[in-house]
Amino acid sequence: MKNLKHYLQKAQKEKFAIGQFNFSDWSQVKGIVAANQNLKAPIILGTSEGESRFVGLQEAVAMRNVLRKKTGLPIFLNLDHGKSAEYLKEAVLAGYDMVHFDGSKLPLDENIKISKEVVKFAHKKGVVVEGEVGRFGTDASRIYEEKFEIKEEYLTKVEDVLHYLKQVSVDLLAVSIGTFHGIDISGISPNLRLDRLQEISARIKTPLTLHGGSGTPIEDMKKAIQSGICKININTDIRSAFVKSLKKALEPNPPSALAGGGGEITPYKYLQGPIDAVQMVVEERIKLFGSENKI
Ligand code: 13P
Repeated sequence: MKNLKHYLQKAQKEKFAIGQFNFSDWSQVKGIVAANQNLKAPIILGTSEGESRFVGLQEAVAMRNVLRKKTGLPIFLNLDHGKSAEYLKEAVLAGYDMVHFDGSKLPLDENIKISKEVVKFAHKKGVVVEGEVGRFGTDASRIYEEKFEIKEEYLTKVEDVLHYLKQVSVDLLAVSIGTFHGIDISGISPNLRLDRLQEISARIKTPLTLHGGSGTPIEDMKKAIQSGICKININTDIRSAFVKSLKKALEPNPPSALAGGGGEITPYKYLQGPIDAVQMVVEERIKLFGSENKI
């Protein structure tokens, strides 16, 4: 099987984006990979630090291994938003294909220092590294001015990207161009600063990542892919589809200790709906990102 670097270069050349789909249990992985089997896309399974601590680093690697072997598809695994070099090293040693160092809350020089350490360690083992310059918020009202314009302090600056990349040879770079993690319940929809994205991608060759893919307008995402975005991260859409469907499955017949043998306490019966809901979300995203049949 071709490695992740190959697919990132292909995405950059052919202008599509590889989807990173986050999970925190096996049922979500089943839904994600079912979509992938239908659409034949290179995909990245993602775990945040919290998700990976719940699943287990080695367990996540074991899931990827078995699914890769069984399907023959390019399924990769990323440790998303790692905050320390130590934890990312653990992920590398466990067998992750990729690690993302999120030093975005640190002063740029500190971010550079730790990114360098992560790159040195990961590259020796052939593991891909994503760096990050600029900050993503999770609270839309905090990062936006009126008219949903992202505040300047949250937007990635071109000169910071150039300074960072001069010193750190990451394989991918996350940039903040107007998205935020999660979906805003008051209905604020991210307003992408494609002008800033174009300014950045005109000056560098490193493939770029768009975080906070849930709730982002479809047309903006398509334009972002044409302007250098090669990977898009999706988490909230998956969580939301899974949980909504699970709640629905449990509501009419709450699990009862008395219902031995009944459908309502049989996990594989009530989990199929949530798995299908995840599959639907992931299929939509793969089609939108243009990564269908790109294996
Ligand atoms: P969303 O939760 O908005 O999809 O963002 C996911 C993400 O960027 C993970 O790194």
